[in-house]
Amino acid sequence: MKGAILLTVLAVVVTLSVARHVIPHDHWPMFKQCDPRWGNERLGDAGSPNTICQAGCAMTSTTMALAHFNTTVDKHGVNPGTVNSWLVKHGGFADKDLIIWSAVSGLGTMKVDTILQSPSASVVHGYINKGHPVIMHVRDNTHFVLGIGYDSENPNMIVVNDPAFTTTEYNLSGVTEVVVYARA
Ligand SMILES: *[C@@H]1O[C@H](CO)[C@@H](O)[C@H](O)[C@H]1NC(C)=O
Ligand SMILES: *[C@@H]1O[C@H](CO)[C@@H](O)[C@H](O)[C@H]1NC(C)=O
Repeated sequence: MKGAILLTVLAVVVTLSVARHVIPHDHWPMFKQCDPRWGNERLGDAGSPNTICQAGCAMTSTTMALAHFNTTVDKHGVNPGTVNSWLVKHGGFADKDLIIWSAVSGLGTMKVDTILQSPSASVVHGYINKGHPVIMHVRDNTHFVLGIGYDSENPNMIVVNDPAFTTTEYNLSGVTEVVVYARA
């Protein structure tokens, strides 16, 4: 009896959590920009004042998308350290440490599809449903995260992999810009 109740409770919890988040694709790797394996490396070109930990949110979010598409550098699966070095060698930064979104197309796996200002929930959901990586500018334009799903009960809440914070959802009302990538 107790077992049956427990199972029922578990089933309800599982059903609720499945119903709540729509994450159409199963494998979105998480990288943290302050991971000691690369966090202290200089972000971008010589003379950049920042480390990957300090300012690598856009590059780290992009790396998650690249890893999703099984991108490699020198035959190894990518991480923020190897992508940063690759971008430095291939003119992938502007103003020393601002990633040039389109530069990663040189890695052969994905390219910029579109860049949108303050998109609607239905537009963002459409890209997520089709498996596009959606990089979002959040926190008053101070941070970038990778959108990977959405909350079907609160359509404005976009589920993310956040390279710095433990935040798992952002309200689209605070998303000023999105960079949508497509498989190359
Ligand atoms: C990445 O590689 C894995 C293992 O080979 C494969 O299952 C997965 O479908 C690949 N991902 C993409 C987006 O092609
Ligand atoms: C998202 O932000 C809008 C506008 O500020 C607000 O009306 C809405 O309640 C927020 N949604 C959630 C789920 O917090």
